[in-house]
Amino acid sequence: MCGIVGYVGRRPAAPILLDGLSKLEYRGYDSAGLAVWADGGINVQKTKGRLSNLYNATDGGKTPYGFMGIGHTRWATHGEPSDINSHPHTSQDGNFAVVHNGIIENYLPLRRKLEAKGFSFRSETDTEVISHLFEYYYSGNLIEATVKVMHRLEGSYALGVLCEDFPDRFVAVRKSSPLICADGEDESFIASDVTAILPYTRSVYYLNDGEIALVGTDGISFYNTDCEEIKKEHTFIEWDISAAEKGGYEHFMMKEIEEQPKAVADTVSPRIKDGKITLDGFNLTARELEKVGKIHIAACGSAYHAGIVGKYVIEQLCRISVEVDVASEFRYRNPIINEGDLVIVISQSGETADTLAALREAKARGAKTLAIVNVVGSTIALEADSILYTHAGPEIAVATTKAYSTQLALLYLLAADMAEKLGRISGERYSELVDEIEKLPEKIGEILKNKEYVQYLASKFYSSESIFFIGRNTDYAVSLEGSLKLKEISYIHSEAYAAGELKHGTISLIENGTPTVAVMTGKRLFAKTASNAEEVKSRGGIIVAVICESERSEASFCDHIIRIPDTDEVLAPSLAVIPLQLFSYYTASLKGLDIDKPRNLAKSVTVE
Ligand code: G6P
Repeated sequence: MCGIVGYVGRRPAAPILLDGLSKLEYRGYDSAGLAVWADGGINVQKTKGRLSNLYNATDGGKTPYGFMGIGHTRWATHGEPSDINSHPHTSQDGNFAVVHNGIIENYLPLRRKLEAKGFSFRSETDTEVISHLFEYYYSGNLIEATVKVMHRLEGSYALGVLCEDFPDRFVAVRKSSPLICADGEDESFIASDVTAILPYTRSVYYLNDGEIALVGTDGISFYNTDCEEIKKEHTFIEWDISAAEKGGYEHFMMKEIEEQPKAVADTVSPRIKDGKITLDGFNLTARELEKVGKIHIAACGSAYHAGIVGKYVIEQLCRISVEVDVASEFRYRNPIINEGDLVIVISQSGETADTLAALREAKARGAKTLAIVNVVGSTIALEADSILYTHAGPEIAVATTKAYSTQLALLYLLAADMAEKLGRISGERYSELVDEIEKLPEKIGEILKNKEYVQYLASKFYSSESIFFIGRNTDYAVSLEGSLKLKEISYIHSEAYAAGELKHGTISLIENGTPTVAVMTGKRLFAKTASNAEEVKSRGGIIVAVICESERSEASFCDHIIRIPDTDEVLAPSLAVIPLQLFSYYTASLKGLDIDKPRNLAKSVTVE
């Protein structure tokens, strides 16, 4: 939610800020702005709407002309998207400019106090209190002022702060919102994530909560809240810059869909040696695993849907009971966690506020915690007891595809590994599973070679008002993801139902011509879901079925059939999700929608 970038060095700042913001636009895109130290003072440009508006307003970054600046792309929380509410926000005396990602929960009492002291506010944002607080507390020492401001703020924040008195350095600080610092030769950067700075440097510092960075042309110094300088180690980022660029694709989403065979292979291959799974980062012994009474999974959005697949697979293979919660519910429902329970949180970004809070809640209740995360060095990755990284590479499109697929792959490895250690599956079954997991990338690739049929189906149904998804067990879990994908980027109303549950109310929404996607990859439950699809069909619905290649059961009730390669029943979601992703992509494309940046959404949700 909201993207921040900052630069100081020997090059003109504005073009670098605009370039950085273009990589961060997935975090929010309802307005954008920048502040550059130029002509002896701070110059601000900000505009409602997409980054292209700011690009035009700054003549492609030619003005303001200076060598230090901060930039912001916004996802509105307090105050509608407007020029005035856009960041940066300045102090009353104009000595400070602030960009902020997060939410200041006590901004109202702070605002009242500042107003009583004579400060007048221009925007409706929570952020503006920060720029005024800087003015209030500043008496020549930037670090001291920052610490005083931090003491007053409740909530979450990543900040970049320019002060007119300092033409060659600025301040950055974070608490529960992501922010990295990076240095190059005679230049330094800050950004909400590494993709914004990859074209310039790969030397990155991960700021911890409460740490302050003084970011200068001659390097970055770090301080704690006692204003003492602290030493930090830098990390070298190995991601290829091309991974964060479109590379000839019209949309990041299609590029990322196509990258799935590689992303899944990168996640799986290094963890299988000679037919045996090794999960460095999560190495519980059989004895330790036996003490795990229950597994809890908490996550948001698609990561939550991956968790639901995980539940079916872990319960099936390990015979350990698994509860899956939406993280925002888990954190407030006073969950019952007993000694020995394992809590798994899943997150692409590693920064989702509710997932982070769920992790902290679990730790506070004494659970062992494991995080499945994509972004290296993210807060969730740093705070969990154990970490397993997905190797999806940077994911830019708001609608996740490859991160979800790699989460599934890692959950399969985890389930198979635990089941084997616990002796709950035979050696033969284990080898079969490992073998099949290794084949997933190739099979995903096969599905991607035959995109045209899914494109044709999208052309038949893109003007539908409602599209339903049904399935049982893992087919139901993947239906949830297919339905979410469709609604988030095509704006078509969609619901996913456990196939047996549809008739308990929701079937009343089926009308003549309502499309229903029936996911029927499981042999065991094929006939059951088929009956439910027939029920839909006999009420005028149109059935699009996702079925395995070798399935020969009678399927004459289906109007359209998408075939996917055969695989082990528990692994089928990895394949079934691919046509569902393609279906939503082509549907949104036919409707002429902004696929990578759907309305009202943001990719990284760092607020509750
Ligand atoms: C947002 C994104 C979803 C994502 C969810 C959780 O809502 O639009 O695609 O699944 O956040 O994000 P995380 O980074 O924790 O996986």
